[in-house]
Amino acid sequence: MSEKSVQRQAEMLREMGITPLWRRRIPAAVDAVMVATAAPEAVVAPVPQATAAEMNPMADAAQPIVREPGLQTVAVSGKVSAMDWPALRQCVAACTACALHQTRKQTVFGVGDEQADWLFVGEGPGADEDAQGEPFVGQAGKLLDNMLAAIELRRGQKVYIANIVKCRPPGNRNPEPDEATACAGYLQRQIELIRPRLIVALGKVAAVNLLGRDASISSLRGAVHQYRGIPLIVTYHPAYLLRTLHDKAKAWEDLCFARETMRGLVAEETATL
Ligand code: URA
Ligand code: SF4
Repeated sequence: MSEKSVQRQAEMLREMGITPLWRRRIPAAVDAVMVATAAPEAVVAPVPQATAAEMNPMADAAQPIVREPGLQTVAVSGKVSAMDWPALRQCVAACTACALHQTRKQTVFGVGDEQADWLFVGEGPGADEDAQGEPFVGQAGKLLDNMLAAIELRRGQKVYIANIVKCRPPGNRNPEPDEATACAGYLQRQIELIRPRLIVALGKVAAVNLLGRDASISSLRGAVHQYRGIPLIVTYHPAYLLRTLHDKAKAWEDLCFARETMRGLVAEETATL
């Protein structure tokens, strides 16, 4: 690695607030990422999955259930799929489509640049988010902010942050599949409105729900997947990284990979203009 890139790496590690741990482990890993991302053509198509048809309570009875290969069955309300931002926001705030509405303090819609290049998707609100109405504002959120800073991103600037479910699962349990399915139309509409260049799925719940197939994070990392034609990269959830320090180095690799992938996407688009 050149002196400049060593210096840059040290800066990033400082930004992520985890310098000592990462410094010991990084050099070989970063080189490996740089080599791997020199040819970011790895595209893994989602494997079609036959999912039982689950009616989304927020779907109009007359509306067809939209099924796409590789995606979880999503019943999209005709109304939701035509909504603009204010209507969608209102609809989510009043939603009672799954049991999570009974225990929430408030819904957590999502936050950021409505024309973001980057979309980060988490799992669902925790206690802090439920109290404040914004995603990733607790401990995991601090780490996410540091992770963003490490690749020169900031919440709200070219970045949108959302969750699979908009209401807090009690006791911080994972959302149940029926809850994720009930909520999926909202995230789908957010993605249609934002049209991000790249989606980063944070953790298994986000990855599995967006890709519509069950797989481990370790098997999904390091490749560019697709969500409805939008490139998608998978990494660990920040809350998991807070508990599992040794995987931070891998998350670092994923962030570098995401940054390189974004550079490639922008360059590709510029070349075709
Ligand atoms: N974890 C998540 O997945 N999302 C949040 O908004 C906060 C913590
Ligand atoms: Fe509605 Fe989603 Fe909240 Fe369930 S989690 S009540 S579907 S907004």
